[in-house]
Amino acid sequence: MHDSILRLESKTVDVVLKTHPFAEILYWGPHLNHFSPQDAESLSRPVANGRLDVDSPVTLMAELGHGLFGTPGIEGHRDGMDSSPLFKTVGVAQEGQSLTVTAEDAHAGLRLTSEIALDDSGVLVVRHGLTNLRAQAWQVERLAVTLPIAERAGEVMAFHGRWIREFQPHRVKLEHDSFVIENRRGRTSHEHFPALISGTPSFSEMHGDVWGVHLGWSGNHRLRAEAKTDGRRYLQAEALYLPGEMTIAEGETLWTPRLYASYSANGLNGMSQQFHRYLRDNVIRFPENKPRPVHLNTWEGIYFDHDPQYIMRMADEAAALGVERFIIDDGWFKGRNDDHAALGDWYLDEKKYPHGLMPVINHVKNLGMEFGIWVEPEMINPDSDLYRAHPDWVLAMPGYTPPTGRHQYVLNLNIPEAFEYLQERMTWLLGEHPVDYVKWDMNRELVQPGHNGKAAADAQTRQFYRLLDVLGERFPQVEFESCSSGGGRIDYEVLTRCHRFWASDNNDALERNAIQRGMSYFFPPEVMGAHIGHHKCHATFRQHSIAFRGLTALFGHMGLELDPLSVDEQERAGYRHYAALHKRWREVIHTGTQWRVEMPDATTLAQGIVSQDRGQGLFIVSQLAMPDYTLMMPLRMPGLEAGARYRLTLLDHPNIRLTGEGGHTMRKLPAWMEAPQTVSGEWLMQAGIALPILDPESAILIGVERV
Ligand code: DGJ
Repeated sequence: MHDSILRLESKTVDVVLKTHPFAEILYWGPHLNHFSPQDAESLSRPVANGRLDVDSPVTLMAELGHGLFGTPGIEGHRDGMDSSPLFKTVGVAQEGQSLTVTAEDAHAGLRLTSEIALDDSGVLVVRHGLTNLRAQAWQVERLAVTLPIAERAGEVMAFHGRWIREFQPHRVKLEHDSFVIENRRGRTSHEHFPALISGTPSFSEMHGDVWGVHLGWSGNHRLRAEAKTDGRRYLQAEALYLPGEMTIAEGETLWTPRLYASYSANGLNGMSQQFHRYLRDNVIRFPENKPRPVHLNTWEGIYFDHDPQYIMRMADEAAALGVERFIIDDGWFKGRNDDHAALGDWYLDEKKYPHGLMPVINHVKNLGMEFGIWVEPEMINPDSDLYRAHPDWVLAMPGYTPPTGRHQYVLNLNIPEAFEYLQERMTWLLGEHPVDYVKWDMNRELVQPGHNGKAAADAQTRQFYRLLDVLGERFPQVEFESCSSGGGRIDYEVLTRCHRFWASDNNDALERNAIQRGMSYFFPPEVMGAHIGHHKCHATFRQHSIAFRGLTALFGHMGLELDPLSVDEQERAGYRHYAALHKRWREVIHTGTQWRVEMPDATTLAQGIVSQDRGQGLFIVSQLAMPDYTLMMPLRMPGLEAGARYRLTLLDHPNIRLTGEGGHTMRKLPAWMEAPQTVSGEWLMQAGIALPILDPESAILIGVERV
């Protein structure tokens, strides 16, 4: 047997597979220092009584024909026939830590190509390609990637969410049957982020084995964590196909989206750090290697009310505040005075901009800033010239009228003329104007998506990718932000084509603390758009100090989302201060290792970023509510060098006040805040530092520097 045992290895993680007669993952766990293939025989299973007389493996394709009895990885048929394929390996090719396994089922007329690669970061990337070898089409109902996980994975963490409340984690036990996430919204979605994390019971940020997966796909999806009746477990992920949506003709290959998988023996931080490193090494590519510029986006400042003279004054003020990229949001194109009309009419509104866009762009550039603009190409308002000319360009099923969402329909990108129209209009925008950055929005879910009467959610998603690919190739210097009513389209596949995500339409610092922490499980700070919003948040009407808003936006790609002309000097001073603070530290923030720090008091949220060389660390402590105890719990600072000594500094603390005004919470600051101290890395990691007693909805930034 051991001829067919292969290992993929990295410093932290190994994967051991059996390739013949059919492929099976035997092990996905910590790196093994003393591995020899014959060891794998120790896992040969007994056969239980009262069931089949043979062993039933969870194969790479998880076919039912092996006696799986769980949810299979493949379902489909050829007009009712060839519906139970069983693949036998016909070829194996290993190159470094990448493996391609080819398998066939001659009866069913299908070939399976499996690509499995283990990156240096420890992230495993898997996808399958299914090829139809017969003349008659094969109807694909499901095609999934299945990854077995260890039996000790007794708990699952997933994310729920909604508009203005993305990335909210929750947990379930994994003991029997399945936990399933299904998304039929036609975009990655706020509601069902395509990820599952399984782990040993009570796995935490620092402890426990965790196996996390993310499906890189911006359309419908299904993810499942399954515990079989024999105790074995697996994670499974796939693009979800609507009835009749997916068929493969002879010679055609359908590829699953890529499944990204990170195992860590050190809890959730280890898992995330591997994902972050994978993205930094392989996926995130900025057109130019330069610091991420501080943004000002006009949306919550002026909404649809575009007056170039006023916008130029906003730009003057933005530049004075330290903004480096100025973006005009929705409202610049013909007839777009509110959200009822004009999507599709990608021509400049000459009433608002009688001299074109160039005066504004030149003004912004002369101030030394980059220029960005908002678009939402995939949509069409019924009240638009485009719709009046081409009512048949709507993505819909014949005979039905789709409901509108934000007063808009989806444009069917599978219609060549519609696709070309968008390509031409976007080329006009980006080719005839020196645009540096595009905020690409998508504000509607797909309901009954149809093309030529057939379900077309998958095809629409692919055409969206194709449009971005065409524009990316044509305008390689332009950066794109993926926005979809805030965080509705955040995933690794779209990240291969964009450079930033708008994490949420909610700029309320309290809500953002949770949203951004949730997003950090899979995405590093440099791609997470985090803006300082108005004093009174437009999404929640909560009010927060500039310090709390500023610090909350610090560990992301920072920006402002407001009109700097309509606020007082104290607010403006705050924007200036936090933009400068972000710039001062952004190199560490955008290249360092991120740590979510668990605090015993659930009202306190702490996180840190430590530079690659461990010479500098930044820790933000956010007090979300009234502390549970009279003293704050000490902050332990992970990721430092044990043997080094660090100088402790309070980098930002404008809100800290001592008693004196009636019944405030603190009489005396912790000693290190009054007299400078140096402390060993080991002590900071193991014992920590005492924190000042923080007010609810406030934060502080603590720095450590190796001496
Ligand atoms: C939804 C986005 O999430 C917002 O940030 C803003 O760009 C609006 N659309 C504009 O219509």
